[in-house]
Amino acid sequence: MTRIAQIAGDGIGPEVMAVARRVLDAAGVTDLQWTELDWSCERYAREGSMMPADGMDLLAEHEAVLLGAVGWPGVPDHISLWGLLIPIRRAFDQYVNLRPMRTFDGVPTPVRADLAEGVDIVVVRENTEGEYSTLGGRHGSGAAETALQTAIFTRAGIERIAHVAARHAAERGGTLTVATKSNGIIHSMPFWDEVVREVAQEYPIEVHFELIDALAAHLVMRPADYDVVLGSNLFGDILSDLVGGVCGSIGIAPSANIDPTRTHPSMFEPVHGSAPDIAGQGLANPVGMVWSAAMMLKHLGKEKETNRIMAAITTTLADPATRTPDVGGLADTETVADALVDHLRSTAPHVESAVA
Ligand code: NAD
Ligand code: IPM
Ligand code: MN
Repeated sequence: MTRIAQIAGDGIGPEVMAVARRVLDAAGVTDLQWTELDWSCERYAREGSMMPADGMDLLAEHEAVLLGAVGWPGVPDHISLWGLLIPIRRAFDQYVNLRPMRTFDGVPTPVRADLAEGVDIVVVRENTEGEYSTLGGRHGSGAAETALQTAIFTRAGIERIAHVAARHAAERGGTLTVATKSNGIIHSMPFWDEVVREVAQEYPIEVHFELIDALAAHLVMRPADYDVVLGSNLFGDILSDLVGGVCGSIGIAPSANIDPTRTHPSMFEPVHGSAPDIAGQGLANPVGMVWSAAMMLKHLGKEKETNRIMAAITTTLADPATRTPDVGGLADTETVADALVDHLRSTAPHVESAVA
């Protein structure tokens, strides 16, 4: 049995997690042993912390973490995020954040259909350093009150994420776009560019550096021109929602927080948050969560089940009767779940399983 820690979290987190669990069952994944953890803002309200003091030790006993979303009005985001999500990414050195996204047949996009056709992008986000640092704080008062935050970029940190992005680009056909802001304003960015350029030279790929502001515009205007996009922690965060939006909805977008050394568990979660504005209404698109669960299966070596789930997603999204309103559909979360499960059951490899 492979041990998986489940953190459904807040808002739509538990709603989409329930769908992922049904889908994994329907895909015939029976060798996962689940530890269901109630770590959330609700727990914080009840017990004063997002997770128990030995929470990281408990997670460390698992092969992977599957997470819904955390954050809820009334609990400041810095508590919910620094109390759970960010410590997991860092303590487990999940320095690779893979955020693939593509357009799907039938799913309307805010950009013209001819521009959106065939879009297939992976945002590779540096996930442990950069702009997301603990260095800084608020000082002073009145008009002199000041907030400072120091971004931290290390050569080792840039090198290792650049290798991952360049390898992905080489495997996927050869183009790497690097998000930057090296025009003399942000001091860390010329360093980022220099180290990424050195690493990328070792791979048979074409590398383009684009200033993040222009890149944001170009990703909207001609998304099909992009393949692998490498970004620092903050730039990668923003670009992954942007690409999700370009492809139709951030409700579809998945993410994998990976420790490639496999010393620690990796964590799989949708790109979106707890969506308090639609929580409890059956409106949540479960696809980002289900796709994230499929990425977890791939990480665990279950390629066949991963592909079957991706086929179920594609079929389900193609029909407005089985997709949620954020992607131009008429279905509620449960109807989408039923459709995914039906697809998996109806395409189950009966003969093989009967023999096995
Ligand atoms: P959000 O991603 O929760 O929502 C942004 C918008 O997208 C909302 O209008 C929402 O309704 C819509 N949306 C998001 N997911 C959807 C889905 N699956 N189906 C349909 N529509 C969907 O971002 P936010 O509102 O800025 O943040 C809400 C809370 O979530 C905050 O507390 C934030 O800190 C937290 N958050 C957590 C994570 C995480 O746990 N990984 C990620 C992002 C935000
Ligand atoms: C994400 C989220 C988080 C991030 C927040 C909630 C801290 O936006 O996973 O994309 O910025 O990494
Ligand atoms: Mn984000």
